[in-house]
Amino acid sequence: MRRYKIAWLPGDGIGGEVCAAARQVLDAAGLEADYVQGDIGWECWRREGDPLPQRTIDILRTTDCAFFGAITSKPAARAARELAPELQSKGLTYRSPIIRLRQMLDLYICLRPCRAFPGNPLNYRDNIDLVIFRENTEGMYIGVEFPTIPESFRAEAAVARLQKSAAISLRSVTPEASRRIVEAAFRYAVKHGRRKVTAVHKANVLRATCGVFLEAAEEVAARYPQIQFETANVDAMCMWLLKNPRSYDVLVTTNLFGDILSDLCAQLVGGMGFAYSGNIGDSYAVFEPTHGSAPKYAGRNVVNPLAAILAAKMMVEWLGETDIARAIEQAVAHVIEQGDVRTYDMGGAAGTSEVAHAVAESLRFARLPGPASLMIASRP
Ligand code: IPM
Ligand code: MG
Repeated sequence: MRRYKIAWLPGDGIGGEVCAAARQVLDAAGLEADYVQGDIGWECWRREGDPLPQRTIDILRTTDCAFFGAITSKPAARAARELAPELQSKGLTYRSPIIRLRQMLDLYICLRPCRAFPGNPLNYRDNIDLVIFRENTEGMYIGVEFPTIPESFRAEAAVARLQKSAAISLRSVTPEASRRIVEAAFRYAVKHGRRKVTAVHKANVLRATCGVFLEAAEEVAARYPQIQFETANVDAMCMWLLKNPRSYDVLVTTNLFGDILSDLCAQLVGGMGFAYSGNIGDSYAVFEPTHGSAPKYAGRNVVNPLAAILAAKMMVEWLGETDIARAIEQAVAHVIEQGDVRTYDMGGAAGTSEVAHAVAESLRFARLPGPASLMIASRP
């Protein structure tokens, strides 16, 4: 095994605790890596006016991939008020560092697997196993927003009829970004023996942007006749996911719909304690538990670290260390099924560190080869 260099970005809130849990499991699993600690998050914003300082970006440029914990995000006006006094008048605006990372590094795939682990008392239904491919660089996340409508926009008839007091947020969807996310979903489906890809949209209302997405999806789907392809409106999709979650396999969608659907799907398989993501580009990736920084739980050793541990598993898999990834997944499955060591969300009284310890312990027994279909990501 080669020795990897991993940017380690715990962030704030519960980020530190869940990253420590993930690290304990990575070490127990035998991943050989050097971890380069990077500053990111709320304290960087408050003290320096930038939640993603240049020195952290520099670390990303010299590492194989990054692992990110969680950070506190607040609406722009509130964030500005909490800046250190000497930074208050500089006109700084807060933008979520994870969004910046996704866009800056062109991590166009947000991969979010939702699998019901056998024995998880929080499963909405057993045997749910779906994967979300969320476009990660454009859509409603481009940050082009106006608190009031700029005069120059008023020349457009459609804009002129809007109320003067309206704020507007723009959505951009390109054929290029649509094609590559759909392509990634189909490639994944082929590689992992998945039967169906569902493209989720709202093209009956968002005709321009969702129209582009849908057209790209149909074009790509035509190249994969062996995979079933269907499309669904996002509202209906929410209903169908609750009604028949087992009928879905690979979902692919635009940025904001993917954000919303991924929380819904997370809840089908146990909630945010089980939700993990890979932000994946062609040569770099950032792995993270999907949950936020949960400040009220910070430092209390109570939150579920499994999302972070599963994010670490995905990272290892992307690095190409499939045996280690499989072992971590089996160890997690074992701890869940066994049921003795559970955090509060699962009805238990164990702490974050105890769950991490239990997974690390069961790694010793989890070295048997498992089904390849568990593996979900790999480095190109
Ligand atoms: C997610 C989160 C982020 C997003 C926030 C923290 C900016 O909700 O990763 O799903 O909206 O993408
Ligand atoms: Mg989200």
